[in-house]
Amino acid sequence: MKALVTVLLASLAMMACTAPSKKSEDATEKKVLVLYYSQTGATKTVAEYIQQKLGADIAEVQAKEAYPEDFQQTVARGMKEMQEGVNPELLPLDVNPADYDVIFLGYPIWFGTYALPVKTLLQNIDLSGKEVVVFSTFGSGGLNESIAELQKAVPGINIIGKLGVRNALLDRVPAEADRLLIDLGMMEGENETLADYSEQQPVTEADTAIFNAAVGDYPMLSATPVTVGSRTTSTSIDYLFTAENAGQDGQKSTIKVYVTKGKAEGDQPVFTLVDR
Ligand SMILES: Cc1cc2nc3c(=O)[nH]c(=O)nc-3n(C[C@H](O)[C@H](O)[C@H](O)COP(=O)(O)O)c2cc1C
Repeated sequence: MKALVTVLLASLAMMACTAPSKKSEDATEKKVLVLYYSQTGATKTVAEYIQQKLGADIAEVQAKEAYPEDFQQTVARGMKEMQEGVNPELLPLDVNPADYDVIFLGYPIWFGTYALPVKTLLQNIDLSGKEVVVFSTFGSGGLNESIAELQKAVPGINIIGKLGVRNALLDRVPAEADRLLIDLGMMEGENETLADYSEQQPVTEADTAIFNAAVGDYPMLSATPVTVGSRTTSTSIDYLFTAENAGQDGQKSTIKVYVTKGKAEGDQPVFTLVDR
């Protein structure tokens, strides 16, 4: 009897945790374009995954004068262009974004916001009246900051979804993109309902060890965790840390660091996003 009750409770718990979603008819009728800039291929991986899942059209944004392959050289050119307020010229797009209802707009994060070619793109196309889904790849983060910048650059932009993936964790793209597409009613499937993070508490030694294991060897962060909240999903324990970070200029700031640790044996904690 006890076993039966346990099974019943477990089934109820599972039912409560999933949110079945059918592809909405409305979504099926909409014309979808995946429009992306990618310098080294990470954002392109996400773009192509989404395009294939939706059978959408896809178009690549390209700078007229391509950025160098070398990271430091791209940083140097990008810095100069930013300081001088230069918007890099683009090659003409081979689609007309005006023909679409939904635009998946993808870019890498450069200097904490969307890459410079996207700045030019926003001046060349009209996103008003479109539903926009933002996706981005980055070394450590910048998704939410770039969305705030998009909202400044295109007042009234209608962003209906977002996805950000670290370039070191591209193997997470299928699961994360599927979750987004199901949430948007663009793909059939069931999403686990994720709990909110628990209230922030001062970190314990064990929390600090998890934080250090997740971010320890990342060169752009010099952070000490201060507080943490967590939640448990069917496959992982997720942590939301606040941390004190010393920037390259020595300035201290408070950052949020999202960390996840899979439940499978041998899974190590990894950070998935930094909000600065
Ligand atoms: C000029 C430049 C600036 C960058 N700035 C940041 C940054 O501020 N934050 C970050 O997390 N990653 C930064 N990155 C790393 C890229 O966002 C990351 O490598 C991204 O996945 C590249 O995408 P792609 O392969 O589609 O070009 C920068 C890369 C470049 C080339």
